[in-house]
Amino acid sequence: MQQIEQDQQKEQEITQNEMPDLIINPYEVVNNSKKQIDYDKLIQSFGCQRIEQSHIERIQTLTQKPVHHYLRRGIFFSHRDLNQVLDAYEAGKGFYLYTGRGPSGDSMHVGHLMPFIFTKYLQEAFDVPVVIELSDDEKFFHKSETTLEEYQRYGYENAKDIIACGFDVNKTFIFLSSKYAGHMYHNICKFQHAITYSQLRGIFGLNESDNCGKVAYPAVQAAPSLSSSFKHIFGKDEVMCLVPQGIDQDPYFRMTRDVCYKLKVPKTGCIHSQFLPGLHGFGTKMGTTDPTSAIFLTDTPKQIEEKIKKHAMSGGGMTKKEHQEKGADLTVDVPYHYLRFFLEDDARLEEIRVQYGKGVMMTSEVKKELITVLTKIVTEHQQRRALVTDEMVEKFMELRPLSNYPPKKNN
Ligand code: TRP
Repeated sequence: MQQIEQDQQKEQEITQNEMPDLIINPYEVVNNSKKQIDYDKLIQSFGCQRIEQSHIERIQTLTQKPVHHYLRRGIFFSHRDLNQVLDAYEAGKGFYLYTGRGPSGDSMHVGHLMPFIFTKYLQEAFDVPVVIELSDDEKFFHKSETTLEEYQRYGYENAKDIIACGFDVNKTFIFLSSKYAGHMYHNICKFQHAITYSQLRGIFGLNESDNCGKVAYPAVQAAPSLSSSFKHIFGKDEVMCLVPQGIDQDPYFRMTRDVCYKLKVPKTGCIHSQFLPGLHGFGTKMGTTDPTSAIFLTDTPKQIEEKIKKHAMSGGGMTKKEHQEKGADLTVDVPYHYLRFFLEDDARLEEIRVQYGKGVMMTSEVKKELITVLTKIVTEHQQRRALVTDEMVEKFMELRPLSNYPPKKNN
């Protein structure tokens, strides 16, 4: 209990003193430097652990599958208790994956897909159940732009994009928190009982004029971390949970883990990703207020091409001569950075890094390559999404056992 407060205080001190250009919490991500966020410092300030080569090798050995490039390239870079989760898996007890999204009416952009693409990879590699929370309540409390019913509708729409990432309906349960909360209310109560208002305020920066929903909600994001919130999947079993998430969500799970300790249940494992910056540069983010900052899942090939050509911040030289002499500054170059996220071919990426960094390759060529890669990803996503019907969404949301729990023995 005090620990949360102490950690929180420590975190704020470090953030304020050592990372003056950076604000990261579930409701705000601001990077006022022009460069890539210093993720090593962030790990220190949040008190999580770096994902080491040894974790990657262990995952490779356990799954007998090539490890996702998000892991190989350090895009999912940090964790809490990943080894404990892998231990449970190795011991044949299995684990499950939990992730989520606050549904918004805004069309989703390519950055929003990352946790789902990665969760889908983990689901396939480990063959474990997945639960996905659509926190319509969270958006209703925090954004208050429209009715709860409308946020629910956004939830269904966003579910289609999530399903289009390729989740297996027999192994995946998707729920809207405003509709499912009753089934896990016993766990929501336990979290609400274990956290004081002052701790919550310390973590989420709330004040007296905020609506009560904002105070109540964190327990709703925490509860799915306990397997007893999904009796239709796990029955009475206590199963470990791993949460793939953007690092901005960590405050929720720091709180969750602290309560797990008090409830004497295994602490929730976490695996954190970096952010995909906006097209305008590392200090910016993808957002709907400025459509030129993001590649949306609904964009046409022409829009993708125009946005990247016109708006993707380049680290190349100002003139051809300067570029050839000095090479590109890859620490501020958005097209190259996006290729790290979206181009799967390691050898080609390395070639671009070297050639572009030396000034042999021009920005226009790198952008062209990015346009090809993203156009393929977005159009294929659109084709898959067009096939997702309302009936399929209902099926994913149905309360039922999942085919891969309990885990098969001796795999
Ligand atoms: N709070 C997240 C958001 O605003 C949504 C969310 C709910 C979530 N449950 C989660 C994200 C679990 C990661 C893991 O987008």
